[in-house]
Amino acid sequence: LATLPDIEPSLLEITRTQDPKTPPPPSSLVFGHTFTDHMLAVPWHILEGWGAPKIQPYGPLSLPPSATVFHYAHCLFEGLKAYRDTSGKVTLFRPDMNMKRMNTTAERIAMPTFNGEAMVELLKQLVRLDKHWIPDQPGYSLYIRPTMIGTQSALGVAPPKEALLFVICSPVGPYYPQGFKPIALYGTTEYTRASPGGIGAYKLGANYAAGIAAQRAAAAKGYVQNLWLHGPEHYITEVGTMNAFVVFKHSDGTTELVTPPLDGIILPGVTRDSVLALARAHAAGTAPVPGLTDRLVVSERPVTMGEVKEAARTGTLVEFFGAGTAAVISPVDRIGYLGEDLRIPTGPDGMGPVSRPLWKYLTGIQTGSIAHPWSVVV
Ligand code: COI
Repeated sequence: LATLPDIEPSLLEITRTQDPKTPPPPSSLVFGHTFTDHMLAVPWHILEGWGAPKIQPYGPLSLPPSATVFHYAHCLFEGLKAYRDTSGKVTLFRPDMNMKRMNTTAERIAMPTFNGEAMVELLKQLVRLDKHWIPDQPGYSLYIRPTMIGTQSALGVAPPKEALLFVICSPVGPYYPQGFKPIALYGTTEYTRASPGGIGAYKLGANYAAGIAAQRAAAAKGYVQNLWLHGPEHYITEVGTMNAFVVFKHSDGTTELVTPPLDGIILPGVTRDSVLALARAHAAGTAPVPGLTDRLVVSERPVTMGEVKEAARTGTLVEFFGAGTAAVISPVDRIGYLGEDLRIPTGPDGMGPVSRPLWKYLTGIQTGSIAHPWSVVV
């Protein structure tokens, strides 16, 4: 069987908008509500492979109501950011990781995979065209949303024979409407985010849809996000749409940075991986994180709410935070759990002694002000 065409950047066709918009002032941005002038679209057909990529004006898609995306949730996505510094240099943060994960997610729901390097090339072209939309202030960036949907007109439950990969871009500031502030979590025992063998480790639209009622229930109780717990042990899994990190102080003087292991119910976050890598290099002494004075032990291990509650009681809980592309590092100051509120320590800026230097270092790399191979020039 002849191999079908993969995504081919040299076939890119660009149609510029006839109606360019003026980017709004960054201070007015609400996360994910503003979109740039252009989008990228690449069609796929089971007999033809990937078609010619197109950059076209941002605008509505035309799909039959019978398209599989509307019925069986053939929808997966990624989120990554482009940064622009005050000299005009534009960078992407670890785009290869997102393309790798997008392929893993596609495989999980029998959707087509593609050449990730070719897609990174196309992302760069799109970002170059709309680079004036990237706010250059600290804390702001361009959120890039690659998405793949099943477009075949068919009601049989089967892998779609047609798909569309598209990419839209949104200039963003803080993820949460209250800005860069610590958030309150509701330790939810009424809902489950993921279960072994399920889809929790993949970036599927359905995962997020299933969490929204729980999020609304948490908000009605006065919390910003859910703390997703698993099993009768109440294992900590994720924070809203982010990976969870806990910091403990141990009696031997070490500080332990803990995140749950990638055991099938945790999304393999790019920010999670980056935090772990920076913290491990610090712990090993190979690349100390500036300003991080603690002797660090880095653990990917199961951690229960019971352990966190006990540490909060004895004063050995140092901090608790979420890590994700959208919010980067999101400190937590309160966790509602089984009818009581646990207070989580935070510093005057909302962060703690471990997350603050890690956040500073990581955002320095992301924005291109600290040279690092993770930062890819566009
Ligand atoms: C994240 O980057 O933390 C996300 O999961 C993206 C979110 C907007 C769904």
